[in-house]
Amino acid sequence: MKTAATEMFGLDIPVFAFSHCRDVVVETSRSGGMGVLGCTYHSPDQLRRELDWIERHVEGRPYGIDVLLPAAYARIETPRITLGDIPREQSEYLRHYLDQAGIPRLPEGQADELIMTEVSRLNMTREQAAALVDVALEYPIRLIVNALGAPPVEMVERLHKAGVKVGGMVGKVEHARRHVAAGVDILVAQGMEAGGHTGDITSMILWPQVVDAVAPVPVLAAGGVGNGRQMAAALALGAEGVWCGSIWLGTRESDLTSDMKQRLFEAESENAIQSKARTGKKCRLLDSKLIQAWNQKDAPDTLPLPLQTATVLESYLRVERARAHEWLSCPVGQVVGQMQHEMTVKQVIFELLSEFADASERMAGIVEG
Ligand SMILES: Cc1cc2nc3c(=O)[nH]c(=O)nc-3n(C[C@H](O)[C@H](O)[C@H](O)COP(=O)(O)O)c2cc1C
Repeated sequence: MKTAATEMFGLDIPVFAFSHCRDVVVETSRSGGMGVLGCTYHSPDQLRRELDWIERHVEGRPYGIDVLLPAAYARIETPRITLGDIPREQSEYLRHYLDQAGIPRLPEGQADELIMTEVSRLNMTREQAAALVDVALEYPIRLIVNALGAPPVEMVERLHKAGVKVGGMVGKVEHARRHVAAGVDILVAQGMEAGGHTGDITSMILWPQVVDAVAPVPVLAAGGVGNGRQMAAALALGAEGVWCGSIWLGTRESDLTSDMKQRLFEAESENAIQSKARTGKKCRLLDSKLIQAWNQKDAPDTLPLPLQTATVLESYLRVERARAHEWLSCPVGQVVGQMQHEMTVKQVIFELLSEFADASERMAGIVEG
């Protein structure tokens, strides 16, 4: 296949996989697409380990990373978030809410350490994202995508000097223009049906708007692409490729627990709701009893990013250890309703492409007919 995106990176197929899981990244790149590693939960040392591994396995194929550079976040006085930064009101509320449901607390004496291990993985400030970029530049990465705001121009210039393309994740036209003004090479237009942080505009409306607004800068379509007909629609609307996140969560290579995968396979599209419960910013995720904690009458307000994420980590650990099925949640888009059983990354890509070919033939037939 040949689009501006395949040409830019030397790919065989215009399929980009966003994943926090290195195996998904490698399998996608080895299949002719491009894996992009989400780094929000990697410290610089962890990222180095992941990139070492990817380098050993990716067989020279192109790959990238995705960092979160939020335009707005709560300033933390310390270089990294500590337990002392986590507000008591919200953490006590959650602790009590889970106690009432009989979900065991974390083991006495280990709780703080377990929580801190998770908290130390959060990388949501500009300084932390910059440290990740430094590590990434030690490797022959081809693309760095930045979410939650246009990247600083100096960062774009630095990456260009290093031969790395810069991508921007956007949910509306105004943001797309801002990214282009900052010098990005490629945009990811993400509709509101996507998993993770989203805006309010659906993919069907957003994709062509962004394509028109930033031409000739290529646009990848994200949000609601889980099969080949959706991929065909994305390219028909002017996108140069697709950027998928949710669909990889249910693959064999995904590092989600089997309990979490099972929950995803059982879910319908309407169970992927938008909530501030996980990060303090509107994020589409699987509804669960844990998410509903924040809808109760006595619930405190959610906190700004990254404090909300830090605050809820303890509950996520408790729920996971208790294997409390109905409490499990993770970011996922509305395509969750299409995910029914575990497949390998290669199978997902094969199905995507064969259905894309069928859809293209059908369209050609309509025109000829
Ligand atoms: C579990 C999960 C975590 C995500 N985390 C991030 C992130 O850290 N940074 C980012 O730019 N996008 C993130 N996203 C959004 C994806 O990059 C992608 O745009 C989105 O998943 C596409 O829509 P889809 O979920 O319908 O495939 C996340 C998505 C999921 C499902």
